[in-house]
Amino acid sequence: EYQQDGPEAREIAKYLPYFPFKGIPRFYDIGGFLYEPAIFQQIVDIFTVRYRGLAVDCIAGLDARGFVLGPPIALALQKPFVMMRKQGKMPNTVSSTQYETEYGSRSGLTVQRDRIQQGMRVLIIDDLVATGGTLSSAITLVKMLGGIPVECACVVELKMFINPPKESGLPSRTELFRK
Ligand code: PRP
Ligand code: MG
Repeated sequence: EYQQDGPEAREIAKYLPYFPFKGIPRFYDIGGFLYEPAIFQQIVDIFTVRYRGLAVDCIAGLDARGFVLGPPIALALQKPFVMMRKQGKMPNTVSSTQYETEYGSRSGLTVQRDRIQQGMRVLIIDDLVATGGTLSSAITLVKMLGGIPVECACVVELKMFINPPKESGLPSRTELFRK
């Protein structure tokens, strides 16, 4: 029900009008539902129900806000949680190459060696998908290590990045995911 674009869905992740942030006029924030245990629980339950029956070996959460959503889901499913961090945060890592996001270029995501092994089925969790650059980088990293990205899951999707008009200058998520 929270996939609907109705007023209820907008309650889940709000943006603050008149507070542009990181160059973005509408910066969506998951802080609101984290502050509401009943809603936070419901969101974790929705993910848990979806993934309980699926073959998943570990949950990879993306630095930083995927670290908020990933662990309660990993605990509910009783699966290992793996941190995929930005550069320079952990020792003994492998990294994906540079990627593009809503805000511009980023150096690759990193994961500690041996966390994701050949043939492991990985569920990737983040809070929000905009251009899809961050999720794509995580998918690349899982594949580089011989893992299988089973699915990516987020709470918020910014639909304007799916197929933006050319004149907007925004990248197309459809194109990116096709690659
Ligand atoms: C935000 C958000 C997603 C990403 C989505 O992360 O949490 O991870 O942008 O954008 P994309 O689809 O265009 O890649 P960000 O790294 O800005 O902040 P965080 O460290 O707070 O997660
Ligand atoms: Mg993020």
